[in-house]
Amino acid sequence: MKDNRVMRKPLFNPGGDTEVKNRRLINFNTTNINDFNNMKYEWVSDWYRQAMNNFWIPEEINMNQDKSDYPMLPPEERTAYDKILSFLVYLDSLQSANLPNISQFITANEVNLCLAIQAFQECIHSQSYSYMLDTICNPTERNDILYQWKTDAHLLKRNEFIGNLYNEFIEKQDKERFLRVCIANFILEGIYFYSGFMFFYNLGRNGKMPGSVQEIRYINRDENTHLWLFRNILKELRTEEPELFDERHLAMLGDMIREGVEQEIAWGRYVIGNQIQGLNEQMVEDYIRYLGNLRYSSLGLGTLYPGYEKEPESMRWVSQYADANMVKTDFFEARSTAYAKSTAIEDDL
Ligand SMILES: [Fe+2]
Ligand SMILES: [Fe+2]
Repeated sequence: MKDNRVMRKPLFNPGGDTEVKNRRLINFNTTNINDFNNMKYEWVSDWYRQAMNNFWIPEEINMNQDKSDYPMLPPEERTAYDKILSFLVYLDSLQSANLPNISQFITANEVNLCLAIQAFQECIHSQSYSYMLDTICNPTERNDILYQWKTDAHLLKRNEFIGNLYNEFIEKQDKERFLRVCIANFILEGIYFYSGFMFFYNLGRNGKMPGSVQEIRYINRDENTHLWLFRNILKELRTEEPELFDERHLAMLGDMIREGVEQEIAWGRYVIGNQIQGLNEQMVEDYIRYLGNLRYSSLGLGTLYPGYEKEPESMRWVSQYADANMVKTDFFEARSTAYAKSTAIEDDL
């Protein structure tokens, strides 16, 4: 019978294999030595440099206007802000807790390095939410937002879907569950954050909560690299474990991404609906289906939602806010915020 187990990586392992060409993402006899000159997965060098250059500090962003804007937001906009932030708090907390679990079963030290940096960035994201909440509301309101899944059934349902997928791999480590946890990560990084991001960017284009918007832009920039990391992990996995990408598994993968998309749309309807100035349900739905296509095709799998291949005209502004490298459309600084720490953390709103 075929062995489908994924083995926990050894720690102190003097008898480990030092041959770069033998290295594999899973089930390799690793020494755990961080050798930056001998990487099997060459994309790691670029990824590592980009992730390091993206370093930022949440408190360096000025939140003064947000403090006065927040109490003045229309009630539906303020409720959406709270619920979306609550979901983001959960996602980043779960990421920082789960990435080390995944890393325990990855046997390529250069990829372990990336996952450690990603986990660190998720901690910064969590801290940025804390800073935002500390600035705009009192401790009671803050706690209410942090734990809103205790009273909001829709939010709990959302958290359960991704939480259960992560738990599956904690309970048993086989190759299929490993694939599923990687896809869950890919969906989280590439789809789940986006109705949240678009809500914040919509506030931004209406001149509201500029500090929160800037925090989210830095988070979004990091999330793009996380998406890049998991896309590459999935691509390498496809080369090394081709049986995991047979027809049955590909159908499962498509179903998971479709489920993620539908959940995100349902969530958008619930938190944004047709009550927020500048957004409506149709815009959210069109954009999330487009994102589903983008993610699916980036894995080399084609189209998931025919008719949604292009970025919707009505949502152009989302990627203009989200892309830190688009110099001319950088509304805040009129120049690139990437690749240079001094400009990346500058904030003179
Ligand atoms: Fe994050
Ligand atoms: Fe992330």
